[in-house]
Amino acid sequence: MTTSTQWQLARESAERYQNILTPSILGPFARALVDFADLQKGEQVIDVGCGTGAAARFAAAAVGGSGAVQGLDKNGSMLAVAREQPPVSGASITWREADAAQLPLNDGSVDVVLCAQTLQFLPEKEKGLAEMRRVVSERGRVALSLWCAIEENPYFDALVSTIDHHIGSETAAGLRSAFGLTNSQEIEDLLRDAAFGEINMSVSQLDLPLPLLESFVPRHISATPMAAGFNQADENTQQGVVHSMAARFETHVVENQTIIPFRSHMILVSK
Ligand SMILES: C[S@@+](CC[C@H](N)C(=O)[O-])C[C@H]1O[C@@H](n2cnc3c(N)ncnc32)[C@H](O)[C@@H]1O
Repeated sequence: MTTSTQWQLARESAERYQNILTPSILGPFARALVDFADLQKGEQVIDVGCGTGAAARFAAAAVGGSGAVQGLDKNGSMLAVAREQPPVSGASITWREADAAQLPLNDGSVDVVLCAQTLQFLPEKEKGLAEMRRVVSERGRVALSLWCAIEENPYFDALVSTIDHHIGSETAAGLRSAFGLTNSQEIEDLLRDAAFGEINMSVSQLDLPLPLLESFVPRHISATPMAAGFNQADENTQQGVVHSMAARFETHVVENQTIIPFRSHMILVSK
């Protein structure tokens, strides 16, 4: 079994991603990225690696009916789930299957590129960034989010170590891969090499109210590339993971919610 480190989820996992991960963790950060990009009415926006479309939907509301949004992803299963979501008011959204290394768009044809928690998974990051720069207009901007170091994200850090310990590093790699590009200097160097102009980086910390971890942890795992490894483990091992996570965050429980801080870089670059 090989765990996908590029978040290539099958259809059922894509649905779980939308139902479990988007409301709890990825959605709040997609909204934070859209706010950070400061979208204006009428702008043309693309969301590269849109997944099930959280950032694209917030963008559609922000640019309004005079704007336009395209969600691009190379995974047809994620796009199929994106297409099934109820429409949002604002711009219409077009969903397109495309590789970030080869965007199906003309030079300078969009005002804003959004890329939420996706650059770290691209095998050819330089190519992906060059494509984002190519398609954005002269006065346009590119907004990216990338998790801060795993040590600054205690929930993910604990989950990776617990899976590593109870199940194995190959399974844990499915989540660890999300933390493959966290160093500010490395990010800045990549952006400079891609010839971007002004670079504005900050950190967004959100204290997110997760459900009780006894129920959330197995549901979360089922929506990630770690699902196959977890499902193959016996019941005791699975319970070991869940109990260890619940015990680790016992002191974070407030009124049946587990409040945990998450930190992500927010990066805005001009062409
Ligand atoms: C962790 S998900 C993030 C999805 C979404 N942006 C969000 O914030 O919920 C990473 C996404 O990157 C997509 N992806 C990975 N490699 C890609 C590539 N080369 N081109 C386009 N999308 C890619 C995956 O299919 C997946 O949907």
